This record gives sequence, structure tokens and C-alpha cells, in this order.
Amino acid sequence: MTTTSGTGPAGPGGPHGAGVDVDGAPEADAGRGSEAPGTETPDPGPAAGEGVATLHPTNGARPLGVTVADPAGAAPGPAETLAGGPVMLGEIRRLVAVTLDGTEVRVPEGSTILDALHREGTPQQADTPTLCWAPNMDPINACRVCVVEVEGSRTLAPSCARRCEDGMQVRTDSEKVRHSRRMVLELLASAADMSQASDDVQRWMADYGVDPARYGPPAPPTADGERERRPPGHHPTPDGARAATMAQPVKVDNDLYVRDYSRCIMCYKCVNACGTDAQFTFAIAAAGRGFDARIATEHDVELPDSACVYCGNCIGVCPTGALKSVAEHEKREAGDWHPEEETVTTTICSFCGVGCNLELHVQRNEIVNVTSPSDHSVTHGHLCIKGRFGFRHVQNLPEG
Ligand code: SF4
Ligand code: SF4
Ligand code: FES
Repeated sequence: MTTTSGTGPAGPGGPHGAGVDVDGAPEADAGRGSEAPGTETPDPGPAAGEGVATLHPTNGARPLGVTVADPAGAAPGPAETLAGGPVMLGEIRRLVAVTLDGTEVRVPEGSTILDALHREGTPQQADTPTLCWAPNMDPINACRVCVVEVEGSRTLAPSCARRCEDGMQVRTDSEKVRHSRRMVLELLASAADMSQASDDVQRWMADYGVDPARYGPPAPPTADGERERRPPGHHPTPDGARAATMAQPVKVDNDLYVRDYSRCIMCYKCVNACGTDAQFTFAIAAAGRGFDARIATEHDVELPDSACVYCGNCIGVCPTGALKSVAEHEKREAGDWHPEEETVTTTICSFCGVGCNLELHVQRNEIVNVTSPSDHSVTHGHLCIKGRFGFRHVQNLPEG
């Protein structure tokens, strides 16, 4: 039985009409709130952009469904539509009812609050700021810029990681939420150089009235390797007149990508991309303590001496430009970086038969970066060294 205030799970046919979701297609349940799972009748067909519910003809009592949208609403689901009809892959998921700023919506059980905001929220709600979240990664829950108020919760909740519960009441734009988001962005921007963060991040900083300058002028940069040499847990006492920062020289120790940790906000995305989210190489991890916490290789060795295989998946997820290709770094340093002129062309990598999608970022007739779409079923946004960096021969540039 579904309730609006209880914490128990919703059942089909509750007062909200909460029912089953077939692979993240709640539309499939519309009008069938009282049906039990397994008794759905096939949809006549999806409207544009809608999910489809149907029964797997060979699956006996346990119906399978069709995904045409990610259950979370943020990335494509596992199903494909082939000639002759959709392929049914996933399981039925119950819907839970949550209230977003006074409006009740239903989302598949297991969705995060951020999923609900992306999928069912207003444009303003869907524009919840994020830094450590990515559609192709497990929630990291590090930056807390995505916080929302959840009724009954003692503290603000990170929307990217907190699962929706039936009857949950969420507030996304209260004074407490706005204040907290502003503080997070402001403190990060006071310590790290956010000038190469995405346009969204720049817009959020303006929208939330972020003013990092109020912490005082930045302290001078540390020398190369100085932060690494500090004893863990012994951060020098700040003088109070200047803002402590991450400012330090850029690490250029290989031909493919640079590490500009003056821009690092310790979001851990690169660590997880190098680890269990994509690459399973574990070449980088967090080291140090407190303000001196940093992303490092084992024993702080240079990248060529580390386990790094130069897949660049850490670059692909870095939200601030701390990690970038040498080509981009050199062009920016030379004042030859023109993102306003950039075009992006999607193609398929020709190095092997896997079939990764490549997005070629071209400026002034030159490939300057290669990425892959996070919703591509082959790559999920991640590439290997050949796809990411093996493009110089295309334009007869010397290999790096
Ligand atoms: S390039 Fe790949 S292997 Fe190297 S640190 Fe980044 S994610 Fe890890
Ligand atoms: S280098 Fe980039 S991805 Fe890695 S922790 Fe820093 S900001 Fe996040
Ligand atoms: S985006 Fe949610 S904690 Fe970072």
C-alpha cells in the first residue's frame, strides 16, 4: 500500500497510483495503477520519446520490459530497439512517489533524487548544480553542491546519491539549500582556479552569487612538489589575510596529458574513472590529509613511471580542466584556444573492431580533442589511448 507520509515501499495501485515501472518507463504504467506486476497488457506502441511496456513472450510469469530511456532519466538504458520491435531486457521496477517542491511525481524505485529532478522536475529543478556527479559514473558524493532539503532529515542531502523513498518530501530551492550551494562553490573557487570549468559551472556560480574574493587575495603558489613534500596532516597555519589555494605549477611529464592541480577540486572523478568506474588501472588516488589532500600517483612518481595506460578517461570526467591533453594545454598557453569556433563531429574509431563512438573536437580545421558520448552503449563515455590520443596522423602532425 502506498502512503504519502510513511516510509514503506509503494505498492501497485496505492493512492498515488504508484505502480510498476517497466525498465524505467513510468509512462507504461499510466492508467494501470491497479494492475499487479505481470498482468500488464502490451502497449499499442510508444509515443515519441516515451517508454514501452510489453511482456516478454518467452519469460513465463516474470514479465520483462523495454527501456527506451534510462531508469534514472540521465542516460540511455540497456535496451535497444531493433527492426521488428523493441528488445526487452530489464526487470519491472516499482514506482515510488516523491514530492518535489510541492509537486508529486513518480519515479522508479532506486532512483536518486537527482534522477527524479532530471526526469520529472521543472527545467529549474533539473538544473541542479553538480560537480562530482556524471551520468556515466556511480555517485561519488564528494562535493555536496547538489544538496536538497528532505523533510525529516537532520542535514541537507546530496541529491546525486540519496535514493528516493516513497512519500519523500524534497525542497530544492529553499534559502538553506541556496546558501549551502553558494558556500560550496565559493569555498572551492577560493582555493581552486575554476576559470576553465564548464559553462554550466560558470553559470551556477553567477546564479548563486558566488564571491570567492571575499576570502581575501590568494596566497602565492607553492613550488613544484612542495605540497607533496608536506607531512600529512600538518597544514601550515594560514595568515588569515590571504586565501589558501591549490596554486602550483602544471605537471607536464608526458606527451599526452597534463595535470594542472591548481584547478583540482578533489571531486574524485578521475580516481574513480581510473578505478572501478571505467579503467580498473588504479594509477591515481587521493593522498595527503586536510587541505593538502591531493590526487597523486603511487609514491608521487611521474606519470610515465606510474601504472597509467594513458586512456585519458580521467581527462574525460574532470569538471574543471585540471586534467587536459597536452595539445589543449599548449594551445591555451599560446592564446590559440578557440572554443567558440569548435565543432564536434561524431564518428567511429577505426583502430579496432569494438566500434567506439568518437567525438572529434575541431578548431580551425584541426582536431584538438577526442571524447566519446557518455550515453554510447559501447564506450559509456570512456576510451582507450588509441581512440583518445591516436588522431595526430589524421592531419599529419608529428606524433607526440
Ligand atoms: S589516463 Fe587512464 S590509466 Fe592514466 S591516470 Fe588517467 S584514467 Fe588512469
Ligand atoms: S583532477 Fe579533476 S577529476 Fe580529478 S579530483 Fe581533481 S577536479 Fe576532480
Ligand atoms: S554532485 Fe552530488 S555530491 Fe557532488
